[in-house]
Amino acid sequence: MNILILGSGGREHALAWAVQQNPKCDRLIVAPGNAGIAQLAECASLDILDGAAVVTFCEENAIDFVIVGPEAPLAAGVADATRAAGILTFGPSAEAARLEASKAFTKEICDACAAPTAAYARFTEAAPAKDYIRAQGAPIVVKADGLAAGKGVIVAMTEAEALDAIDDMFGGEFGAAGAEVVIEEFMQGEEASFFILTDGVSALPIGTAQDHKRVGDGDTGPNTGGMGAYSPAPVLTDALAQQAMDEIVLPTIREMSRRGTPYQGVLYAGLMIENGRSRLVEYNCRFGDPECQVLMMRLGAQALDLLQACAEGRLGEMRANWADDHAVTVVMAARGYPGAYVKGTEIKGLDALPEDSRNMVFHAGTAAKDGAILATGGRVLNVTARGDSLAEAQARAYAMVDAIDWPEGFCRRDIGWRAL
Ligand code: AMP
Ligand code: GLY
Repeated sequence: MNILILGSGGREHALAWAVQQNPKCDRLIVAPGNAGIAQLAECASLDILDGAAVVTFCEENAIDFVIVGPEAPLAAGVADATRAAGILTFGPSAEAARLEASKAFTKEICDACAAPTAAYARFTEAAPAKDYIRAQGAPIVVKADGLAAGKGVIVAMTEAEALDAIDDMFGGEFGAAGAEVVIEEFMQGEEASFFILTDGVSALPIGTAQDHKRVGDGDTGPNTGGMGAYSPAPVLTDALAQQAMDEIVLPTIREMSRRGTPYQGVLYAGLMIENGRSRLVEYNCRFGDPECQVLMMRLGAQALDLLQACAEGRLGEMRANWADDHAVTVVMAARGYPGAYVKGTEIKGLDALPEDSRNMVFHAGTAAKDGAILATGGRVLNVTARGDSLAEAQARAYAMVDAIDWPEGFCRRDIGWRAL
C-alpha cells in the first residue's frame, strides 16, 4: 500500500513512525514533512491546503491511502477532494470538520443531541455580547467562533478581561474567525482528552491522554499548543469514558449522520471532569499534538489497520489491542516560546539516543542542513517514551531530554504530574 500523510509536525512524525512499521505499508510519503520524518519516510513539497494539487500528487505517485494530519486541510475540503477522486482517505469532510472549525456549530450539535457542555450564547455584535457578560459576571469564557490556531479562547477571570476580549475579537484580531463570538459558562474541573475513531456509524475509542497547555511547571505562565502529554489519563476512568461515549460522542456521531454529514476520522473530545461527570469543552477533528505522539507510541503498527478500517467503513469489525502500559512525551521548545523565539539553532546528541518501540524523539519543527539538525519552530522536539508505569515512562523520557545537547531549548520538568 502506498500511503501519503499530510502535515509536518510531531503528530505526523508519530503517525509516520507507527504506519511504516506495518508490513502493509510499501511506500510512505509525508508532505511536507520535516527532518525527523525524512529519516523514515520520503518527504515531498506540496501545498496541502490545495485539494486539486493533493489529488494530482496522489495520481502521479499511485497513492492508495491518504491520512490527513492537521485541521486546516480538513477545513479546506482536502479530504472531500481526494475522496471524490476515488482515493481512500482518513479524515472528515469539510462539513463534518466544522465540529472543530466552528465553535457555534459544535454548540448547535450539542443542543440537538442534548450532550452535556457549558451553557452559552452566540453574538455577532459587541454591545449585546458585553451586556451578556455584565449580566453573567466572571469567570467567563470568550471564544472566537472560527479556527484561530489555538489562540481564540480567552478564559477571563475578571469581567474587564472578558470585555477586552470582546473588543479584540470584534476589532478583527482573529480575522474572520472572530466575526462571531461564543460566550460560555466557565467550567471547573480537570481536563482530559478522549480519542475516538469513527467511520460515521461505528465508534472505537483508541485512548485517553492529558496535555499540559501552560508553558511553565505546575501549569503556570501563558498558554501554548501543548508542552507535553501522557497516556492513559487515569482521571478519565472507564466509567467516565463510558458516560462520555453514551452522552456526548455517540449522540454527536448519530446527529452528524442524521444531518447527512457523517463524520469519518478521529474525533478528539476535550472533556472537563467534575464531580464524577464529564462535559464537552470542545471537539477537534484531528489527533491532538502532542497527544498523538503518546497514542501512537502505545498503538504501534496496528494504527494503520485501524485508520484504514475507519476510512473503509469497517470499524465495527476492529478492536484496539492495548498493552497495559504508559507513554509520556516531553516537548522541547525554543527559548522564548510561546513568545518570540530564535530560529536556526543547532541540536546535537540526537544520533546517540535509542530509537525503538519504547523510545522515540519525534520532530515537530526541525530542518536538516549540511548534516546538522536545526530548530525551525517554537515546539521543536517531542521526546517520547513508553514504560510499564507512568513513572518509568517519565524517567526514560527525561533521561533522553538530558542527553540532548541544545542550549537554546527548554522543556517543562513535570510532565505527568497530575497522574503521579
Ligand atoms: P478550546 O480551544 O475550546 O479547547 O479552549 C482552550 C482551553 O480553554 C481549553 O482546553 C480549556 O482549558 C479552556 N476552556 C475552554 N472552554 C472552557 C470553559 N467553558 N470553561 C473552562 N475552561 C474552558
Ligand atoms: N494539544 C492540543 C491540541 O492538539 O489541540
